[in-house]
Amino acid sequence: MQRFNIKSHFNNKLPMLLAPMAGVTDIAFREVCKSFGAVITYSEMVSSKALVYQDAKSVTLLPRGTGETPYAVQIFGSDHAVMAAAAEKVLDIAAPEIIDVNMGCPTPKIVRSGDGSALMRDPELAGRILAAIVSAVGNRAAVTVKFRKGWDFGSVNAVEFARIMEASGADAVTVHGRTRSQLYAGSADWDIIREVKAAVSIPVIANGDVANRSVAERCIAHTNADAVMVGRAAMGNPWIFSQDTPRPDSAAELLKTALRQLERAAEIKGERTACMEARKHFSWYLKGVRDAGKYKQLAAKATALAEFRALAAM
Ligand SMILES: Cc1cc2nc3c(=O)[nH]c(=O)nc-3n(C[C@H](O)[C@H](O)[C@H](O)COP(=O)(O)O)c2cc1C
Repeated sequence: MQRFNIKSHFNNKLPMLLAPMAGVTDIAFREVCKSFGAVITYSEMVSSKALVYQDAKSVTLLPRGTGETPYAVQIFGSDHAVMAAAAEKVLDIAAPEIIDVNMGCPTPKIVRSGDGSALMRDPELAGRILAAIVSAVGNRAAVTVKFRKGWDFGSVNAVEFARIMEASGADAVTVHGRTRSQLYAGSADWDIIREVKAAVSIPVIANGDVANRSVAERCIAHTNADAVMVGRAAMGNPWIFSQDTPRPDSAAELLKTALRQLERAAEIKGERTACMEARKHFSWYLKGVRDAGKYKQLAAKATALAEFRALAAM
């Protein structure tokens, strides 16, 4: 069995990937992004501990959506044996082409357990974790890592970290050009991504502040990265991935897609949960629309599909 070749998917002129986003990138949203041209889509981050200790809710985060190839599942944790076991479990359940390892999450709860971006403070440990996953996965999937510029401005180590990841068997790295202490504030540093790209021979995916397609082009030109990954700018805006379909201006057109996403989410997680989660998705879809207030007000209270359908037909 040939190991999945990520690089071969980066041939098109502007390869744009959908970032993993907890609470956002569920199957329904990923399918919409894929249909508009996202080259690779990532699951929300999944706890390795929860997977290995049989947490049913975590397992529901794993499945691939329709047409979602290549597909990446992202796991987090800091115990190499648990991470390796979780990766195998992910392969058995969802068979993604890519296992992505989260070494960038800045959330206090995650960092306090030594997970996510805390691993950037211990690159040797991070390397051992990655090597354990790579060895457990074998040729069943590619293994990639997503991390940040560094822990804080006094400890910027993305270049050294990327080299260790490459030496530990990573097939690609994604670099978010912010430090952990920046969280999501300030602007992403693309220079550090360019430095990482120059330092390793595996593909490098640039992430941070890609707001639209022309920014994506600039990001690739600046960093020489192999692809860009889009997070926040994709919320309510799957058109960002499309070469030829611009984001519509009218609420009616925007909400057609929002409703398609909601109806699919309802099939998967049930009407009630899907509708509660659709409140935020609808408000993102309405961003930039003039007179969106009346739609947003209704969406913020809606609890049933029928209400969202009525809203989309207004
Ligand atoms: C709501 C939200 C949830 C996120 N969840 C994850 C996650 O589960 N795993 C991860 O690696 N990054 C996560 N991120 C970070 C994004 O993947 C991305 O690195 C970051 O938003 C910067 O890219 P952007 O400027 O395009 O948004 C999340 C970001 C947001 C806003």
